Amino acid sequence: MASGFTFGFGGDDLEDIEDASDAGQQQGSNGAAQKQVDEGGKSEPVYQEAEELNIDEMLSSLPSQMEFNTQLVHDSTGERPFLIGRRQLIDIRIQLMAEQDMLDEHEDLLFGLQKEDITHAVYEGGFKTWECAMDLATLLATEYDGRFTLADGEETINIIELGAGTGMPSLSLFYSYLTGQANPDVAKRRKVHFVLADYNVAVLKLATLPNILLTWYITRRNPLKGNPLLADRNAVHLMEIDQALLEDFRRDLSERGITLSFISGAWSPKFVDSCLGQQSTPEEGVAAGEQPTARERRTMILASETIYSPSSLLPFTETLISLLRRAVSNGGARYSEHDYPILAYISAKKVYFGVGGGVTEFLMTLRNVLGGRDEFKALPTSEVHDAGVGRTILRIVPKEFDRR
Ligand SMILES: C[S@@+](CC[C@H](N)C(=O)[O-])C[C@H]1O[C@@H](n2cnc3c(N)ncnc32)[C@H](O)[C@@H]1O
Repeated sequence: MASGFTFGFGGDDLEDIEDASDAGQQQGSNGAAQKQVDEGGKSEPVYQEAEELNIDEMLSSLPSQMEFNTQLVHDSTGERPFLIGRRQLIDIRIQLMAEQDMLDEHEDLLFGLQKEDITHAVYEGGFKTWECAMDLATLLATEYDGRFTLADGEETINIIELGAGTGMPSLSLFYSYLTGQANPDVAKRRKVHFVLADYNVAVLKLATLPNILLTWYITRRNPLKGNPLLADRNAVHLMEIDQALLEDFRRDLSERGITLSFISGAWSPKFVDSCLGQQSTPEEGVAAGEQPTARERRTMILASETIYSPSSLLPFTETLISLLRRAVSNGGARYSEHDYPILAYISAKKVYFGVGGGVTEFLMTLRNVLGGRDEFKALPTSEVHDAGVGRTILRIVPKEFDRR
């Protein structure tokens, strides 16, 4: 049997799944197959390899309509409220059940979706929105109004969300890029590339991409009426999807210099290559006959609730450091005291009770991965202490950029 667990504390879910039935409690064939026995006789989950998905295929597999509700985001002072779209879990479940091919392939996901369980290497929890995702979405709405989001030079901005799930942090930035600039010439000179990664292909297809499309739709095409602060989070809206809408979506993003890519599978060196696959180094660009440009490269890596499992702490941390090192070696961006061109935000609960991961374990792993090199600095930038488990957001920056 695959090792499954349920987070044994409240406050994670931003949407309850109604009508969770007992159907699917047996692990499906995927779960049973994805194990290997090591020399000591202990069985270890076998993870799927990283792979870049084809966005055309993803868009064409969307249903003709989607039900969604909205999630309110605002900065830490409560100013500038805005809404992002979130596909209803029930709508995802209906699509999973209706599409036999997908259901055969992802039987275990239906189980996870219903029972809110994580089964390592099978379903890692991406269908629902975990609370640290909203902490990070808020921080990004607060800190990046005017700098990383709206910088208007010759820039390539890479935003990579690891373990994106429903993608709330990326959507907070996506909203800013959709709305934050009046001058279309700026968009022509600037490229913003979102890389959204989740272990499960089905999460990327049924939740992450739909939420991007929904957020674009309510921001650019059909703004929901009224004050976002008064929006009813439980109200269910419907978006009709046809070819014209999808073409409009593509054209609008292209005009704004926004590109998207989606990576499934496990954190690993192959995953790092897949994330950075389409990006050439400045030298390669020149070698390929392009004109060298003064384009700056900025990279922001986001992750929420990805350090809960001791078994994936090491691959997660190695992947993170590898992405940061590649960004530094690709560098070239200006920086000032409060403007880091390369950084990562890790939003997490301090402790994952009964599971073994947490911030202390992550920082220890980080030290081990860095092997004593004084290369990056990790600092808590935000702490939340409410009724539940304490939460924090760590900012990780190359030491050379940290002048404070
Ligand atoms: C608890 S969910 C958090 C989802 C989302 N970031 C949020 O906070 O709402 C953990 C995420 O980490 C990803 N993940 C976990 N283990 C992974 C692994 N070994 N390789 C790649 N992704 C993994 C999953 O895809 C999943 O979406």
